[in-house]
Amino acid sequence: MSAEFALEVTDLAVNYGTVPAVNSISFSLRRGTVTTIVGSNGAGKSTVMKALTGLLKPARGRVALFGQDVTGMEPDALVRKGVVLVPEGRRLFKLMTVAENLEMGAYQRSDASAIARDLERVLEYFPALRAKLKSPAGSLSGGQQQMVAFGRALMASPKVLLLDEPTIGIAPAVVDVIGDIIQNIARNGVDVLLVEQNAELALEISDDAYILERGDLVLRGKAHELAKSEEVQKAYLGI
Ligand SMILES: Nc1ncnc2c1ncn2[C@@H]1O[C@H](COP(=O)(O)OP(=O)(O)O)[C@@H](O)[C@H]1O
Ligand SMILES: [Mg+2]
Repeated sequence: MSAEFALEVTDLAVNYGTVPAVNSISFSLRRGTVTTIVGSNGAGKSTVMKALTGLLKPARGRVALFGQDVTGMEPDALVRKGVVLVPEGRRLFKLMTVAENLEMGAYQRSDASAIARDLERVLEYFPALRAKLKSPAGSLSGGQQQMVAFGRALMASPKVLLLDEPTIGIAPAVVDVIGDIIQNIARNGVDVLLVEQNAELALEISDDAYILERGDLVLRGKAHELAKSEEVQKAYLGI
């Protein structure tokens, strides 16, 4: 665990059949940071996330987790190593209760007392969920459902949290709350890789940033510097 990088991705390429979706990209997630990959719809963001979590096998390239090669590892093994995804669209079990959805996050763990402690911690992060534990997840607002999705991921005891467009479908007034939550999670020792179409929020809350266009990383730098670049402002910030 002495590696400088939580994730170090080198020349990663991912295809659907013979059709390339991600072309030989390299990026890293420094420990103790939030790193973002910003890109419009279809750029390849979810494809990158699926490759990092073992849901898709890379065609080429290497993924190192805290310095250890984990390329091509199965999803379950990656979860055990602490790589946990909050998927695009949240993917909750809408008819099941909030409590059941949260417990689902701990499916690979058997340390009951630690699980109970983590559930308590999740409810401290998201006090609004406490009164909703017995409600069907589908009855909650979009923002609260995102909190359940974050909570479920935290129940897996992540070291690296991968967030796929957490602000999609969230009321504008709640987007900043989601941003605060992400920064809070990072301050508590979980390294965060965030992919977003919402460049404004992503660049505001991240340390390092990359711009993904049609499967290629076309720009990289400090998030606050990219937010000032004319190119990024025109293409992604509507300025
Ligand atoms: N299951 C799939 N089969 C074939 N092509 C796909 C599949 N999923 C995504 N793609 C294509 O791969 C590209 C990247 O998609 P995706 O990673 O979902 O982009 P993003 O998450 O940035 O919107 C797009 O051109 C998309 O049409
Ligand atoms: Mg996507």
